[in-house]
Amino acid sequence: MTHDHFLNPRFPTIWHGGDYNPEQWPESTWDEDMRLMRKAHFHVATIGVFSWAKLEPEEDRYDFSWMDSVIERLGSADRYFILSTPSAAPPAWMSRKYPEILRTGPDRVRRLHGNRVNYSLWSPVYREKTQEIARRLAERYGSHSRLLAWHVSNEFGGEDYGSHSIAAFRRWLREKYGSLDALNAAYWTAFWSHVYSDWEEIDAPGHPYGETAIQGLAVDWQRFTTDSTLDFMLNEASPLREISPGVPVTTNLMGTYPGINYRRFTPHLDFTSWDSYPAFGQVLTDPNCWVTVAFKHDLTRCLSKTRRWMMMECSPSSSNWYKSMALKKPGMHRFEMLQAIAHGADGVQYFQWRQSRGSQEQLHGAVVNHGTTDNGRVFREVQQVGEEIDDTMAGVAGSRVEAEVAVIYDWEAKWSLDAACGPIQGDKKYEPVCVEHYRAFWEAGIPVDVIGLNDDLSQYKLVVAPMAYAIPQGFAERVSRFVEDGGTFVTTYLSGWTDENSLVFEEGFLGPLRKVLGIWSEEIDALDANTQSQIRVSGLSIDGLFEVREFCEQIHLTTAKALGSYQSDFYAGNPALTVNPFGAGKAYYVASRNETAFTGKFLQSLAREAGIERVVEKLPVGVTAQRRVGDGQEWIFLLNATPNPHVVTTKDGAIIELDPWDVAVRSVVTTETHLTAL
Ligand code: GLA
Repeated sequence: MTHDHFLNPRFPTIWHGGDYNPEQWPESTWDEDMRLMRKAHFHVATIGVFSWAKLEPEEDRYDFSWMDSVIERLGSADRYFILSTPSAAPPAWMSRKYPEILRTGPDRVRRLHGNRVNYSLWSPVYREKTQEIARRLAERYGSHSRLLAWHVSNEFGGEDYGSHSIAAFRRWLREKYGSLDALNAAYWTAFWSHVYSDWEEIDAPGHPYGETAIQGLAVDWQRFTTDSTLDFMLNEASPLREISPGVPVTTNLMGTYPGINYRRFTPHLDFTSWDSYPAFGQVLTDPNCWVTVAFKHDLTRCLSKTRRWMMMECSPSSSNWYKSMALKKPGMHRFEMLQAIAHGADGVQYFQWRQSRGSQEQLHGAVVNHGTTDNGRVFREVQQVGEEIDDTMAGVAGSRVEAEVAVIYDWEAKWSLDAACGPIQGDKKYEPVCVEHYRAFWEAGIPVDVIGLNDDLSQYKLVVAPMAYAIPQGFAERVSRFVEDGGTFVTTYLSGWTDENSLVFEEGFLGPLRKVLGIWSEEIDALDANTQSQIRVSGLSIDGLFEVREFCEQIHLTTAKALGSYQSDFYAGNPALTVNPFGAGKAYYVASRNETAFTGKFLQSLAREAGIERVVEKLPVGVTAQRRVGDGQEWIFLLNATPNPHVVTTKDGAIIELDPWDVAVRSVVTTETHLTAL
């Protein structure tokens, strides 16, 4: 295995650590922190995330002495560090002197100083200041032998409606459309007389203050917010790249956070990372909870151009911003950490090391909690995980997850769907529907990539694109080639309704996807919350009746064959599920929103037919299996995401007993086609 496989070859193992905020504490605690970090096998401290006021207490007066001393201590204790740039929270003097650096809300009122991520995305002063502090950090620490990565800012997010931002939006639109005629055509502005005759007439859209009737404008604003955030990040990261070109750059993403299309960040990050905070009360009652975490892990992995990623933050016990701060039950902590590793993470870290005595997060879980040192329950669990990672996981770092299945989750498809007025009002459930499709594979122990509509499909055997409402140019061609070459493609109701400008295709719904799917779509019946219907499936191994809610799209066959039909209303007997053999492959259309049991059985049967390998043949409900593949060695992870014990038989006949929330990791050597237990 080459060194390119690791997050950073300087520390080529699984990273275990987290946010460390020593500036909140007197220096007298720092040596004790080092002792405890060694004991907890906490190797990597993320520092500087919110340190600006301490690094630059007055304009142009910098004080790095405390950070020097923290870094020196970390080095002497044989620890490494990730260094963050501090832009998430500017110092108060800066907001006072340059109020333009503050964010403006959708009501066009500039916010007061405070909180965090409360800065203007386009203020020239803030751009200059954030670049300057980044430059100074890079000059001082960029060549430090213990620096593992740059962590740019913290959890980018939100929108900015300030005057700099609106001006930038108009520039962005001009560049995109070239002329107002092109923009008016794309936005269909003849409707309600919304035609623009000057770029200055265009403003940020959005409820409740702005334009809400033009879907193209709504989606462009989200694209622009994405590009603004990216531009902000690149400005900040440029001195880091220039001064320390060998140090990887990342930023902590937030899973499926809806406001930013993270795929635009992919080319600019050396590896990805995200902050995962499932509700530990909910995991007991909501079977989708750990599945959703798994989905976001796979999404984060696939957002990384190197497929290297880490869980930058999670809580070692509970999160104070949930309605109730449920604690992790015994075993859950280990489950959470090993689950991330099973999905390819090469780092698992916490927020935060030492619980803050005051302010917003004084009750948030930490490794060292109030009044405890190494005698705390949480500390001990962290320590046990740290020991296990050190003792058994070092070799896992650098291995890969290989998936034959891809589920498409696409921000732009979601934005267009959400912006459409109809076919129902309210949440159309894009994310839960994608997770439900993903779940079918998770339950079967089939590794999945979570990719976007613009990504390459050719490496997969099965691609599932739920509710791909707006499809980009070239997507239908890529799907057609994929299916022609033998792939299996599945898409659902409300897919391919519009082009990327949110304009319904001239030829009608499904537009350029009609040929490969062998159907055309005419209209959709949206059922109210109290109505349900059924479809009958026949001609598949899952024949039977399945419940339908919310959406019954009305499709017509051209070359496809019906595998399911509606059972009621004036469209009883019409096709509800189709397959179209196309070249060497098949394209399926699921026209109605069916019960979860259908989705699971249907996709699992297609996976079998497509010859997709399962890590383990048969799994109890709530238990999954994942695999990481290295050179001549594999690691099989059996993960029990339930509060009950279960037994799993591996392919080589081993019987594995899993306690509640247990994870078993088996290292196997690989030959060409067989797995042999070590
Ligand atoms: C986020 C932030 C952290 C901290 C945690 C608390 O992930 O990045 O600074 O506030 O939430 O859950």
